[in-house]
Amino acid sequence: MTKSSSFVPFHVAIIMDGNGRWAEKRHLPRTEGHKEGVRVVRNITKASAVFGVRFLTLFAFSTENWRRGEREVNFLFNLFVESVDSYIPELKEQSVRLNFIGDMSGLPAFLRKSLQLAENETKKGEKMLLNIALNYGSRREILDAVRLICESKKEVNEENFSSFLYTTGIPDPDLIIRTSGEMRLSNFLLYQSAYSELFFTETLWPDFTEEEYLSILKKFGERNRKFGGI
Ligand code: IPE
Ligand code: IPE
Ligand code: MG
Repeated sequence: MTKSSSFVPFHVAIIMDGNGRWAEKRHLPRTEGHKEGVRVVRNITKASAVFGVRFLTLFAFSTENWRRGEREVNFLFNLFVESVDSYIPELKEQSVRLNFIGDMSGLPAFLRKSLQLAENETKKGEKMLLNIALNYGSRREILDAVRLICESKKEVNEENFSSFLYTTGIPDPDLIIRTSGEMRLSNFLLYQSAYSELFFTETLWPDFTEEEYLSILKKFGERNRKFGGI
């Protein structure tokens, strides 16, 4: 793994898609794909910190993913608890701070408890902030922010509005990657992605490697970001 800084985005966000298809291709239950997906989360998190990314946001469960039915949803929640609990020492060692974004009130208590513990345990991490979007939906986030800003009686401007989003204090993503060949945002960071560079790869999330990640970061460095200028 080489360390470089010239092409490294400040904030990378990833829509980790394709776990189910990865498993189906191997005639395995979809849940096996999710387990493999966790392994890749660890690799890509470690690589991000080494490359010098300061913020990494991973989409793990959307407000629409409840439609998958109780069995898959329960499996995912248990997997999140198991993975988060066992991941804490590694994150501390890498000085990575964990932060969860999404509608936490909609999650079961056993899961919330484990997420809070992990946030607390890793709060001293300074190298990178790892945001995991869980029960996250951008439309819900925006509507909640509208309600909160109205209640606050603050002036409605971009700065104040951003401070009511789940991502308060976090810069907008420079780069959004989606795996598995789907080319849509699926209700992810709709407000924050106004000027993000988008990359889509056919690779299924469990097959996504550090090498491919690095090659996307390099291509990102070659993009001409204009922000409306000339
Ligand atoms: C992404 O993989 C993980 C979650 C949404 C939890 P999928 O489970 O959506 O995999 P596909 O899209 O069915 O292959
Ligand atoms: C988006 O993937 C959500 C996550 C990666 C957590 P989905 O698989 O749920 O998205 P759609 O349904 O294909 O748009
Ligand atoms: Mg999917």
